[in-house]
Amino acid sequence: MLIYYITPMPNFYATTPIYYVNDRPHIGHAYTTVLTDVLTRYHKLFGFDAFFMTGVDEHGQKVQKVAAARGISPQEHVDEYSEHFRNLWPKLNIDYGYFIRTTDAHHKKFVQDSLQHLFDKGEIYSKEYSGWYSVGEERFFDENELIDGKDPISGRAVEWINEKNYFFKMSNYQQRLIDCINENPSWILPEFRKNEVLGFLKKPLNDLCISRPKSRLSWGIPLPFDQDFVTYVWVDALENYISGVQNKKYKDGSPLWPADFHIIGKDILTTHCIYWPTIIMAMGWELPKHILAHGWWLIDGSKMSKTSGTGVNPMDYIENYGVDVFRYYLIREMVVGLDATFSHDSFVRRINSDLANDLGNGLNRIHKLTLTNFDGKIPACAEHGEQEKELENLCQKAIDFTKKNISEAKLSLIAEEILNPIKALNRYLEATAPWKLAKSTEQKDKDKLATVLYAGAEVLRIALALLSPVIPQKAEQGRLMLGLPEFSEESLKFGLLKGGEVLGKGEALFPRIQEET
Ligand code: MSP
Repeated sequence: MLIYYITPMPNFYATTPIYYVNDRPHIGHAYTTVLTDVLTRYHKLFGFDAFFMTGVDEHGQKVQKVAAARGISPQEHVDEYSEHFRNLWPKLNIDYGYFIRTTDAHHKKFVQDSLQHLFDKGEIYSKEYSGWYSVGEERFFDENELIDGKDPISGRAVEWINEKNYFFKMSNYQQRLIDCINENPSWILPEFRKNEVLGFLKKPLNDLCISRPKSRLSWGIPLPFDQDFVTYVWVDALENYISGVQNKKYKDGSPLWPADFHIIGKDILTTHCIYWPTIIMAMGWELPKHILAHGWWLIDGSKMSKTSGTGVNPMDYIENYGVDVFRYYLIREMVVGLDATFSHDSFVRRINSDLANDLGNGLNRIHKLTLTNFDGKIPACAEHGEQEKELENLCQKAIDFTKKNISEAKLSLIAEEILNPIKALNRYLEATAPWKLAKSTEQKDKDKLATVLYAGAEVLRIALALLSPVIPQKAEQGRLMLGLPEFSEESLKFGLLKGGEVLGKGEALFPRIQEET
């Protein structure tokens, strides 16, 4: 009897933070979302059933204030501003699976049910509370956390507030959280952020204030057990990661939660690595598998964002230089975890060197030489010699490196590694000079020309496939230009072209940016 073993498709669910809708999207939002999109696309390429969710965080004081200043209701404001985000994503080639809004009825019900559950379990109690409140961060700070009497994150003023509120017994979970972090060394990435969280946990953990009186903040989800209060916006927001996928299933029928990756910026580390896991523990849910905190995009040394007034509008770069080029810059230029400086000069330099000079040049040369010498069909390889073996090895190295490092989202290193076979291809073209071989009448030169163009097409096929999560549209155009088969995990192997593949039309996919710096 024959027994067929079917390897199950591995699953992957990632999340972006849900964005505040008090202003328009800026490069910070664009970066987190592109990073998550690229990570998800890599998993798809490697055969995963991969899904990611993004969305908007619509409750809280900031939105209430902005709406009041505009003279409209919070609901009108969020309906309008959530569209700025939803409309931006297709323009950035973002292929999300679901867009959640925290004003969605199913989300509100999920949050209320979970709070009722915690209340019934005795995990929530009420008391009079005084503390320093930052509207910017939507949270209280302890006196010793303030810097020069100001919010330690945004540097803005804080207000002293005294009121009754509801508290979650977060302190009960301190030791369990410390143990969990120590037992799962790659749970919080990168490692120095894990250490930062452990450092924070050396001090006794306070209980978490999870409510706001309606008299002060009406724009929130009412507490199911006390209608005079609404839920603290962070509790509402964090639960989106589960509420948004509670009715979704992978193709194999299993639930999406727990998420494989929460992608966040470093400014929201505490909320994701302390508040969220302790709520999860109290609820008895499963913990997410990884929380990855990236750094900030800086300009002139300060964070680029909606509030600093220095926001570079990603739209300008998309329109001026093209979406995939912009995505490439974000991914290649920022080492995930560290800060990076966005500058027009570095943008021009990076695009000209990696995409115009290296990838674009290789692509154009192979296309043109194949068109003129082999009637627009990729020739079969005549001899796989030492030089070609070296290219093959570099391709294999790039494939292995990508597969290995994707589990920790080391995307800038991956992009760098993928460029190696392309750079080697251009050196190989200089060394073998196919334009000279094309003029020769000797058979051995004709054979070498076929080999060079075959090897070139193979390097480009593999490099374009490996870069396709970063530059999906351009990679597809490059694939069609060389008449290559569709990208898939199985096709990530040098030497699969048969010869005879028919080229498409040539295009300058990566024009050089002419403003020299
Ligand atoms: N609403 C919360 C998240 C709730 S998630 C349950 C929030 N929203 S936000 O709109 O202010 O920011 C969202 C993300 O954008 C954060 O991850 C933040 O780090 C990121 N960025 C904002 N400015 C940034 C840069 N200049 N550079 C990179 N990312 C930064 O926080």
